[in-house]
Amino acid sequence: MQARTGRGFGIKVMTMGGNSNVKLISDDGIRVDGRKVDELRPIRIEAGVLKRADGSAYVEFGKNKVLAAVYGPRECHPRHMQNPAKAIIQCKYNMIAFSVNDRKRPGPDRRSVEISKIISEAFEYVVFTENFPRTSIDVYIEVLQANAGTRCAGLTAASVALADAGIPMKDLVPAVAVGKVNDQVVLDLQKEEDNFGQADLPIAIIPRTGEVLLLQMDGHMTRAEFDQAIEMGVGACKRIYDLQKDALARRYSVEKSEEDQLEEAPAETQEG
Ligand code: CDP
Repeated sequence: MQARTGRGFGIKVMTMGGNSNVKLISDDGIRVDGRKVDELRPIRIEAGVLKRADGSAYVEFGKNKVLAAVYGPRECHPRHMQNPAKAIIQCKYNMIAFSVNDRKRPGPDRRSVEISKIISEAFEYVVFTENFPRTSIDVYIEVLQANAGTRCAGLTAASVALADAGIPMKDLVPAVAVGKVNDQVVLDLQKEEDNFGQADLPIAIIPRTGEVLLLQMDGHMTRAEFDQAIEMGVGACKRIYDLQKDALARRYSVEKSEEDQLEEAPAETQEG
């Protein structure tokens, strides 16, 4: 095991960084789940899946299943946490007990506190918080099933949920993890690659401006590999961005047709 700085708790600390001996990419460049090195897992994004929340989204990145719900902007309690100049964003990332192989002990731990913090900070930069002084925007991310990359799936889902809640933002935020496995840079690590790979680098961007909103790294990469990873991650984020926009378009086109039907109904009654 190698010492390193930055994030990294639990299983990953015990494994990542030195297991290039575990063969996870075949000689013809195919990964354990059949993907090429620059291939994303199948992604599904649905917006507006919960009736009680102000905004919501459900995301699958391969075997990851993540639900996000947004409430607010609403009056911030306790009051001493209010900011008279802007809204605060309070994100709670949680892995539910049956989301991983070993039962996850319910409640917050170091890892979930860290992920909640980085996601809150990411959204504080994107949401026009100054429009909603003294309020809180609460973002709940529930990981129903985990297979590495849940912070990225969570960010992707939460961003769609914020848009679904009608909260003004600079842009949607797509996120994906890039990593290094068997000395190769690979896109969207799944569990075995995350556990036995040499590096993991989650990245989130603001596609409209090209800004990098979140960048973390576990493990080791050369400068050239890092540049390649960023290029790969940014390219993949743009593809995820299209899926996010498509999810919102589908959500609101369905709403519109329901409204249209309601509008048409009285007219038919009058005629009859
Ligand atoms: O999920 P993400 O890659 O963003 O975070 P991580 O800290 O790199 O965790 C990688 C993966 O380890 C998770 O997605 C889970 O599949 C797994 N894990 C686990 O099995 N049990 C935990 N208590 C925490 C993580």
